[in-house]
Amino acid sequence: MQFKYLPSFVKRRGRITKHQESNVKQLSAYEVKDGEDFTALSKEFSKVFIEIGFGDGENIISMALNNPDSLFIGSEVYLSGIGSLIGKILEKDIQNIRIHNGDVRELLDGIKIPVLDGILIICPDPWPKARHHKRRLIKKEFLELVASKLKKKSSLYIATDWEDYAENIDEAVANTDKLLVSRSELFSNLPITRFQARAMKEGRKIHKFNLYKA
Ligand SMILES: C[S@@+](CC[C@H](N)C(=O)[O-])C[C@H]1O[C@@H](n2cnc3c(N)ncnc32)[C@H](O)[C@@H]1O
Repeated sequence: MQFKYLPSFVKRRGRITKHQESNVKQLSAYEVKDGEDFTALSKEFSKVFIEIGFGDGENIISMALNNPDSLFIGSEVYLSGIGSLIGKILEKDIQNIRIHNGDVRELLDGIKIPVLDGILIICPDPWPKARHHKRRLIKKEFLELVASKLKKKSSLYIATDWEDYAENIDEAVANTDKLLVSRSELFSNLPITRFQARAMKEGRKIHKFNLYKA
């Protein structure tokens, strides 16, 4: 079978706890499958944001709790992360998070008009080996796909802990006129995610990109 996009993730089952597994069974109550689901939902909230690759969900939970009138859609393929996020949604009775279980590029393709108020990507998979660089999510085409779904002046925030990925992102931004560098941050006081904490412990700098739709 031919995929439209080269996977930017390793789809692994990984270690999943019984608790996460039982939470995943409730995914349908929170699921955004495609552009059609997205459009129906987005009308219920004043603003809509997507976090791509939410991992264990620390960041999306914090944003959702701090901005109860906005909808936060988390896109992720990592089942134990989805299970953890559903667990936290239930525990804190959060009403403004929905989950896309799949490649975010397919969800974005299904969104037909620029309706998003912001997109966040924290520590995209680094694919450190040169022969795997083609799998890196953030490249010019991806930035332009994202820009086509953002409202004018709305933001894209990216943080990477890999120096050479940051250089690639700089080049991709320089090669498109659809996104410009912003002086303001999309959200301030975001929590440190698991991958950021690991990078900091290993002495890697976090490179941040605040961009907005031209
Ligand atoms: C390195 S982890 C970072 C997780 C989290 N943001 C953090 O900082 O701890 C990157 C995550 O992005 C997810 N991911 C990669 N490509 C994706 C895509 N195209 N659509 C949705 N999620 C994706 C992966 O499954 C993985 O969990």
